[in-house]
Formats: sequence, structure tokens, C-alpha cells
Amino acid sequence: EDIVLVGAPIEAGAGRRGCVMGPDAFRTAGISEALTDLGHRVRDLGNLAPEAVERVSAPLAHLKNYNDVVGWTRSLHSCAKNLANDPVFPIYLGGDHALAAGTVTGHAAAAHDLGRPLFVLWLDAHSDFNTLESTQSGNLHGTPLAFAAGLPGFDGFLGQPLTHPVDPGNIEILGVRSIDPEERRLLVKSGVGVRDMRMIDEKGIGSLLAPFLERVSAENGLLHVSLDVDFLDPEIAPAVGTTVPGGATFREAHLVMEMLHDSGLVTSLDLVELNPFLDDRGRTARLMVDLVGSLFGRRVFDRPTRSF
Ligand code: ARG
Ligand code: MN
Ligand code: MN
Ligand code: MN
Repeated sequence: EDIVLVGAPIEAGAGRRGCVMGPDAFRTAGISEALTDLGHRVRDLGNLAPEAVERVSAPLAHLKNYNDVVGWTRSLHSCAKNLANDPVFPIYLGGDHALAAGTVTGHAAAAHDLGRPLFVLWLDAHSDFNTLESTQSGNLHGTPLAFAAGLPGFDGFLGQPLTHPVDPGNIEILGVRSIDPEERRLLVKSGVGVRDMRMIDEKGIGSLLAPFLERVSAENGLLHVSLDVDFLDPEIAPAVGTTVPGGATFREAHLVMEMLHDSGLVTSLDLVELNPFLDDRGRTARLMVDLVGSLFGRRVFDRPTRSF
């Protein structure tokens, strides 16, 4: 199976600038080479551009860069929907997390047409489950999961209601440690699976992930993984604008990627929120590329692929 890389240099959803350089930092850190070395065929489609959107005013005045985010959501949605019908594995190189408004909903629409459920694993310090009404910051990268789950108020994103939202019961957020008060109420009401750092400390990240993967497998689902740099502890991954202490360790993150690889279930991937302007000699970009290597089959010592 071919891997395709799609650059999405969007920074309109983030509170500060720099994510526009993300796709090129992944390339400079050797993402293509890492995948090729593992025996995969890789095609880099270059960078996508946002769709031109007629100037519509934001439904609420405090939403930042609403038009830009809408343009990106539309171009990424069609791109993802098309790629999902090809026998390829797309990796979306962000860009801030608002890009997932397009990728997740595009893959959800395609999954619906294939008659298979889409599952989403959201690896993030944040749940990004604010609505346009609930966001306090107005930064739209805090909203894509609420949009994809079909919460109301987002019809402007695609210019029409979302026809194929992701079933909230098929969404699992892992590694979260920062949720806004209203966002928390929305999450509880929706039935999204939330696994916070305390649960990871108590149970171990592997035993939290395993039952979710079992369910994806049992329901013959497609699995989209959305990896936010701030899932990782800021000590090992400083290049992100929204660091929260106490994140996933190097070993926890690699274990998640290795389990995902062994499951054989993952069908698409977002790499988001890398802000190279904040990096320390490329170490965050390189760590992200190493994690992608684990997701695509790198292992220390060969052993038969075991089930999760
Ligand atoms: N919950 C906060 C907000 O809505 C932070 C969101 C951070 N999201 C991210 N993708 N880094 O503003
Ligand atoms: Mn995020
Ligand atoms: Mn359809
Ligand atoms: Mn985050």
C-alpha cells in the first residue's frame, strides 16, 4: 500500500503563528525517507491550499480567522474524501489541529459510503471539543472534534449541515489533561470516550488502548488517528504553542504507535500542531517522525505480529 503525504500549512486555527512551517519541518526531518527505509512506497503530494471562500462573516465575533479555517476545512474535506477511495494511506502534515475538521469529516463521509464505521483516536493534551459558542479563546483549533462529532452550530464550515458525523461513541481521546468547563459538559453529554493522564498513570496506556482497538476490529471499522504534538510531554516535544505539563512519555508514545501498527487497523493519520518556530534544533520534528516510524512497522527486535 502506498503512503501519500499531504501538506496542510494552516495556522489560522492556532493562537500563535508558526504552524505554517510544519509540513516542511516534517519533510526536513526525513519523514519520506523514514517510511521508505521501512519498505513503504511514499508519494508526497506537496501542499494543499485553502478553497477560496466568499467573505462570510463569522457567526460569532470572537472567532479568529473564521474564513481561513472554513477554506481549509473545505479543501481538506474533499481531499480526504477522495483519498479515502484510493488504495493509499494518507498522512496529513499540519498545520494546526483545525485541519482535522476537514480530514476527519472527509474520511467519515467516505467510510459511510463504504458502509463501514469510522473510529477516531485523538491523541492530545486537549479534547478540542468546543463549539463556536463555547470557545473562550476563539481559536478554532479547539473545535474540530466537536464539529466532526456533529455538534450544532458548524453549518458554515462546509456551507451545509454535516451529513456524516462521526458517532461520538466511536471517538476515543487519549492523553488529555486540559479541558475547558463548558467543553467538559459537552463531552460528558456526547458520550465520547475520554482517557485522561490519571487513568494512564493508574492503568497503563497500553491497557487503555487495547479495548478500543478490539472494538474497532470487532466492528470492522476504519481508524483515523489524529496526533497533536502536545500529546507528548513538553520536555521531549517543545515545538508546540499549547504545551501542558505531564504529557505522554517517549515510551508511552512509542508503545501506542507500536500497538497501532500491530493492530493493522489504522487507515489515515494527522500530524498536527508542530510549530517549528518553537523547536529546539529540530528535535520535536524528529521525534514525531520517529513515532511515525513505529506506527509503520519499526521495531527493535523482530517477533511475530501479535494481537493487541
Ligand atoms: N481548549 C482550549 C481552547 O479551546 C485549547 C485548545 C487547544 N487546541 C489545540 N489544538 N492545541 O482554546
Ligand atoms: Mn489538538
Ligand atoms: Mn454519503
Ligand atoms: Mn492539544
